Amino acid sequence: MKIVFCAPDKDPQPWLDSFAAHFAAYAAANSASSHSAAELWSWCPGESPDAAQVPRSCQAEYAIVWAPTAEFFASQTNLKAIFAIGAGVDGAMRLPNLPDGVPIVRLNDAGMGVQMAEYVCHALIRHTREFDRYETQAKKVIWNVRKPIDRAAWPVGIMGLGSIGARVAKSVAAFDYPTYGWSRSEKQIDGITTFAGADSLGLFLQSVRVLVCVLPLTPDTENILNFKTLSQLKPGGYLINVARGKHLVESDLLKLIDSGAMAGATLDVFQTEPLPANHVLWQHPKITITPHCSAITLREQSVAQIVDKIHALQAGQRVDGVVNLGSGY
Ligand code: GLV
Repeated sequence: MKIVFCAPDKDPQPWLDSFAAHFAAYAAANSASSHSAAELWSWCPGESPDAAQVPRSCQAEYAIVWAPTAEFFASQTNLKAIFAIGAGVDGAMRLPNLPDGVPIVRLNDAGMGVQMAEYVCHALIRHTREFDRYETQAKKVIWNVRKPIDRAAWPVGIMGLGSIGARVAKSVAAFDYPTYGWSRSEKQIDGITTFAGADSLGLFLQSVRVLVCVLPLTPDTENILNFKTLSQLKPGGYLINVARGKHLVESDLLKLIDSGAMAGATLDVFQTEPLPANHVLWQHPKITITPHCSAITLREQSVAQIVDKIHALQAGQRVDGVVNLGSGY
């Protein structure tokens, strides 16, 4: 079984070592298995630019990718499946030369849901319980207790109710905030009031004060957080974006915050990453910035999941997380 690893911004060696260890452990535990041994390598830009010159028998059957390039896919003609080592696959989906008919498989949670839930609850609670104010007070040695919050005045809406969004929504609801969810297709989650489809987006937005974006980035969701949508939030609206920078029209958010229509935002993702040093968002007193760290791919959990899925595909079984090319996630 031939497997190529392509993640231009990552050090490939720890990944290759981890895959080798997981394949070896699988082989040891399944000695009767007929699966061939895994042969793994890392692809480098400029390598095998002309796929026609590489014998098919030397081409990878499985690709493990993060932010792959069109050049990478131009060099691969024998793939059976592509595994993304992340939750979002928008980077790969934008490429013009994805091989036809080859499934793209994204991670199923793999430790990301709990990180996102933790990040969102932290940002939400920091805002509603005024922890930034307590930090400022403490620096000035001021002892002053704020009034308790009325949770009914803080309805929270989660856009995107896949496995990660559902985990976020349940975690928010566990703190007794009225919790709403919006997704493309109908979803039912205990304790969450759900809305589905473009027609109900307005009603959803008007129901919430804190908006959390966990959506996949697709042509339908690009720029979905804009003046028109964000201005429908309840007064004092607050945005937490942990999805993709391209969901948000940053200048529209700034207009709404600066006019007082919205209270602020916590942003983990940006139109341009890293966020340029001179960007106005860095200095804005009502915006909290983090460097795309709300859920970091956990190597061991991700590798274990991908190795299991490769063995399942080899055995002709179906796997979870196959991207629907029509919807783009
Ligand atoms: C990170 O942003 C991911 O999609 O996994």
